[in-house]
Amino acid sequence: MPDNKRILITGNNGYIGSVMAPWLQGQGFDVVGLDTGYFAPCTLVPDHTDVPTIHQDLRDVTASELAGFDAVIHLAALSNDPIGNLNEAWTREINSQGTIHLARLAKQAGVPRFIFSSSCIMYGTSEAAVVDETAPLAPRTEYARSKVEAEMALRALADERFSPTFCRNGTVYGLSPRMRFDTVLNDFMGNAFTTGRIVIQSDGTPWRPVVHVQDVARAFQAVVEAPLETVHNEAFNIGADQLNHQIRDLGQIAAAAVPGCELASVPHPGADQRTYKADFAKFKRTFPAFSFRWTATDGAKELYAAFRKIGLTHGMFTDKRFTRLSWLRHLLDSGSIDETLKWTDLKANNSREGAHVSTGQEAERSGNPIDA
Ligand SMILES: NC(=O)c1ccc[n+]([C@@H]2O[C@H](COP(=O)([O-])OP(=O)(O)OC[C@H]3O[C@@H](n4cnc5c(N)ncnc54)[C@H](O)[C@@H]3O)[C@@H](O)[C@H]2O)c1
Repeated sequence: MPDNKRILITGNNGYIGSVMAPWLQGQGFDVVGLDTGYFAPCTLVPDHTDVPTIHQDLRDVTASELAGFDAVIHLAALSNDPIGNLNEAWTREINSQGTIHLARLAKQAGVPRFIFSSSCIMYGTSEAAVVDETAPLAPRTEYARSKVEAEMALRALADERFSPTFCRNGTVYGLSPRMRFDTVLNDFMGNAFTTGRIVIQSDGTPWRPVVHVQDVARAFQAVVEAPLETVHNEAFNIGADQLNHQIRDLGQIAAAAVPGCELASVPHPGADQRTYKADFAKFKRTFPAFSFRWTATDGAKELYAAFRKIGLTHGMFTDKRFTRLSWLRHLLDSGSIDETLKWTDLKANNSREGAHVSTGQEAERSGNPIDA
């Protein structure tokens, strides 16, 4: 039985949380989730997990709800760049102010560890060949800024009673019950499988680190179990050197996983050319026994097998349930959530109704989605 045994995971009904929460449960942790449930009905494959969950907006959490936990793993967020474009205030309010609120209360409630799901995207465009955790942060979007602001505020809370750790993930891929098709490799695979064609909307040269969702779950476990002095107030890029890829490599990997798939590149002016390679030496040094088990090639094969099994159609692939911005817009348009992104009384009917809609309504994406 692990020492730091009682864990609260926020965002456990999201893409990563739906994999991480049951994984940690299976490892012997006593896991409780906290999620407002925006994407609860958005399942691509059934979620058979049984994680007790506090159905709560993190902005309304109280200290008493946090008492007794050995660690908080904080995943809950508006989780990509385009949502920031919909309304910047929401991203700031939930991702930075919400995080700070949660962390202050966790500290007040005596929770010793706070693991923050951050992002390598905060490095922005980098002139440097590789960016380690000391590289200057150059957030270019509201989403990236919200991660920087949250990290800075959490650092200021660190003391002998409270240890925040910042896990800067690359873009995550792989199968989850609450699938996202708005991240790069998942999107390429969905296109490859349902249309037989991948179109890269840039020259394909930008670099991005990617990481499999199951490896993210294992890496966070390593952080939760680490001696406090090794992770106290530390940032880690989560991944491994072989997981830095150019976008065109990821296109080739996805195309190779799907028989007969074509790969095309249509560079256009204004394409997203932000580029960076992450340096993962610090994680490797701190966790020498840990290995990232998944390669992008294995992940592409896993998705191909899963898509065959469920018979993924183009309508399912482009359904709004699997693109975070489209689903939030649906919840807003149907009156299920209000202009502060809190649930209204219409929630029960509308979100359930939406959950069964598989109209193939085109998801809102511009170009290849590459950041999360
Ligand atoms: N998926 C990636 O590629 C990636 C990469 C780097 C970092 N991250 C970070 O990891 C975390 C999880 O990402 P994900 O891909 O699982 O995202 P997701 O959108 O699938 O899940 C986020 C979850 O948080 C919940 N949530 C959002 N706002 C909330 C609020 N106000 N109160 C309570 N719950 C709320 C949602 O309901 C959802 O279940 C996020 O912090 C994201 O920024 C993700």
